[in-house]
Amino acid sequence: MPATTAPRLLDGEARGALQRARSLAIEELIEIIERSGLRGRGGAGYPFAEKLRAVRRNAQGGDVYLVANGYDADPGSPLARTLLTRNGANVVHGISIAAHAIGATQVYLYLHPEAIEARAAAERAIGEMAAELGVPIEIALGPGGFMGGEESALLAVLESRRAMARQRPPYPAAQGLRLRPTLVSSVETLAWLPLVVEEQARANTKLVSVTGAVTRPGVYEIVLGTQLGEILSEAGGATGKLKGVHVGGPTGGILGTSRLDTRLDFDDLRVAGTHMGSAQVRAIAAGTCIVNEAATLFAYLAKENCAICVPCRVGTKRVTAILESTYSGLGRDSDIAWLDELGTHMERFSLCGFGITAPSILRTTMREFPDDYRIHIQEKRCPEGACKPIRSRRYETMVQP
Ligand SMILES: Cc1cc2nc3c(=O)[nH]c(=O)nc-3n(C[C@H](O)[C@H](O)[C@H](O)COP(=O)(O)O)c2cc1C
Ligand code: SF4
Repeated sequence: MPATTAPRLLDGEARGALQRARSLAIEELIEIIERSGLRGRGGAGYPFAEKLRAVRRNAQGGDVYLVANGYDADPGSPLARTLLTRNGANVVHGISIAAHAIGATQVYLYLHPEAIEARAAAERAIGEMAAELGVPIEIALGPGGFMGGEESALLAVLESRRAMARQRPPYPAAQGLRLRPTLVSSVETLAWLPLVVEEQARANTKLVSVTGAVTRPGVYEIVLGTQLGEILSEAGGATGKLKGVHVGGPTGGILGTSRLDTRLDFDDLRVAGTHMGSAQVRAIAAGTCIVNEAATLFAYLAKENCAICVPCRVGTKRVTAILESTYSGLGRDSDIAWLDELGTHMERFSLCGFGITAPSILRTTMREFPDDYRIHIQEKRCPEGACKPIRSRRYETMVQP
């Protein structure tokens, strides 16, 4: 199967969809959306129709909000920006249909502060459609940083607080912005609505950002279920021999080249030990030390987490320190069990998807590249001759297993 179909989200537009949506009974509209199989494109893949129903159930006549998440938290995956810049009218169309379905009283299009071009395109599209919208759409800017895109943190930002997550339930569909029912949906999810309503299309493609050691890095629209190797081919193929492929953005796992037949799909990626996340597919060149890669990713996460919960705030720092010690020649055999246990704590007890998914970096790299860990720990050298020691002491604050 070719990786691309006729491009849909990036170029397609269904002009009459809003009118058609308004002509239908709401439950009929939601059933059409349900039949399309549309799942949230922001990472977790939650069924979109169920979210619509939950918001409607909780509305009971008061204010209802829609937040279109176009933040692009992962700097390596500018999907919402690309969508807005290339096909802003379609996104605004989709937002209006969702707003109609939930009876939204106010809509926020939430963007990254550096997305200048996308913001201008969104303003243009909103201006052009002003007469048809039926509800005010305000552009709101996030704070910058990875956590700014997480749904409960972005609601805090819209309430003029810091981008910190909060415990769920209650989910935003029950108590979101200003404690009112709120639909938080990715711009990419919403962009499907015109196509789904007008053409009864199946929501079967996904935008991905292909980066790293490929000939033509960029944003591609691929059929869900396309194998990772085919996605790399779509981007012109690898520039040389590969060591692995990193899937899902900063909290995503790294798979070895023997797994290039993994299908890019919400469920298949989970089975492989990673997740859709930001839908970044990064080709990692041969000669890269995977322990070093994992340490670099965890150092980023230790800096970017919102620090409200202990498992993630402390866990990301601990893991970074252990991995840095390992590639600095200070590793011990017991570090593997220690990393495993820290990963389990983060998965089980973190408050949001950031800390829950981050251990996939550990799980996949320890499973797929055991030699990189073993050679660093036992032979005190880098398997790729690439690592330079950055620590002269181990990081220990308590007895290790
Ligand atoms: C750390 C973190 C960053 C996120 N960043 C984004 C983002 O930039 N854009 C996005 O749509 N969803 C992002 N999400 C997912 C949102 O929390 C939320 O699930 C999503 O916007 C819901 O939309 P969907 O149902 O259409 O997927 C992020 C989640 C986490 C944990
Ligand atoms: S898991 Fe990390 S990012 Fe999420 S709430 Fe806890 S500290 Fe914040």
